[in-house]
Amino acid sequence: MRKIYIFDTSLRDGEQSPGVNLNIQEKVEIALQLEKLGVDRIEAGFPAASPGDLAAVNAVARAVKNASVIGLSRSREQDIEAVREALQGAEDPCIHLFLATSPIHRKHKLRMEKHQVLEAAEAAIKYARKYFSKIEFSAEDAGRTELDFLCEVTDLAIRSGATVVNIPDTVGYMTPYEYGNIFKTLKETVPGIEKIQLSAHCHDDLGMATVNALAAILNGADQIEGTINGIGERAGNTAIEEVALALETRQEYFQAKTTLTLSEIARTSRLVSKLTGMVVPGNKAIVGANAFAHESGIHQDGVLKEKTTYEIMSPEKIGLKGGKLPLGKLSGRHAFREKLVELGYSLNDEQLNTAFGKFKALADKKKQVTDEDILALVEEKLIET
Ligand code: KIV
Ligand code: ZN
Repeated sequence: MRKIYIFDTSLRDGEQSPGVNLNIQEKVEIALQLEKLGVDRIEAGFPAASPGDLAAVNAVARAVKNASVIGLSRSREQDIEAVREALQGAEDPCIHLFLATSPIHRKHKLRMEKHQVLEAAEAAIKYARKYFSKIEFSAEDAGRTELDFLCEVTDLAIRSGATVVNIPDTVGYMTPYEYGNIFKTLKETVPGIEKIQLSAHCHDDLGMATVNALAAILNGADQIEGTINGIGERAGNTAIEEVALALETRQEYFQAKTTLTLSEIARTSRLVSKLTGMVVPGNKAIVGANAFAHESGIHQDGVLKEKTTYEIMSPEKIGLKGGKLPLGKLSGRHAFREKLVELGYSLNDEQLNTAFGKFKALADKKKQVTDEDILALVEEKLIET
């Protein structure tokens, strides 16, 4: 089974979520939890952005022992120097250089011709080689870059000394077929591609960040970049937990796996949510509060008989205690009886029938019936009988 490397950028692209600002202690706390989760690489920040971010990257670099720590850098010498300073003391340092390659970015942002982009990328990679043996190069807005030019950029990055080439869908514009095809083409046509790792980095503007990352894996990507809970610039990045559980649950399909400790996912998600202040929506895949909750009576009955009727993965796998059967008007007698047993009651058939009738009447008035409601209802019933 092929290993997929996980590059976590919660502390860099994730911190680019509007309103999020992590201090040094918070970055270190998240980085140590990411280490427990077993991510291979942690992008800790963008050292040239501010002295505070440089210090935070340095604190992460010194704290983390079992993952490579990465600093982001534009393709310019001052940024590379800032990353060098920030990664001092790192066990396994890596620099992440980027330069935009798409026609839109070349024309309006960089005001550079293609040959100037190539020259700048080559110069930056060669400069970074003075200090780093691990260099990732990102062709920013690769998704909207002419495919032949992207092949040329990748070829040059490999020849200049990059060890990972990243293909960002910076603006979340790609469809899975198009994005997968970029990886396929690079794999088939660029000389020396087998010597480096190819990486996917997707944004969720059209809601396709996870499926695009999976398409990249099917077409040969070695590394997936993403964030916990999918936080990040605008609509966010690929959610790492979604990729990890997709590979785990559909192993026979993807023939690839991560080496994450999946049971740390729920804890990592809660920590990132707490420290960034970004609430996880209830219906978010894998880590949302409803991801393992079965509401309808038919589903509850099925799950009580055999979990796999409606659960494709177990909540325990990501470190949760168990699934939830929220009781409401759709719940059936089976789920109601299980709840009573959990609360310590064993009613005879007649008592159960009456209590269930009262429960249904209450459920019609309330969206969700709580344990306290049920306790009150059963106590009332037992006193009456
Ligand atoms: O989305 C993007 O292009 C980025 C790069 C810096 C890799 O985050
Ligand atoms: Zn990004």
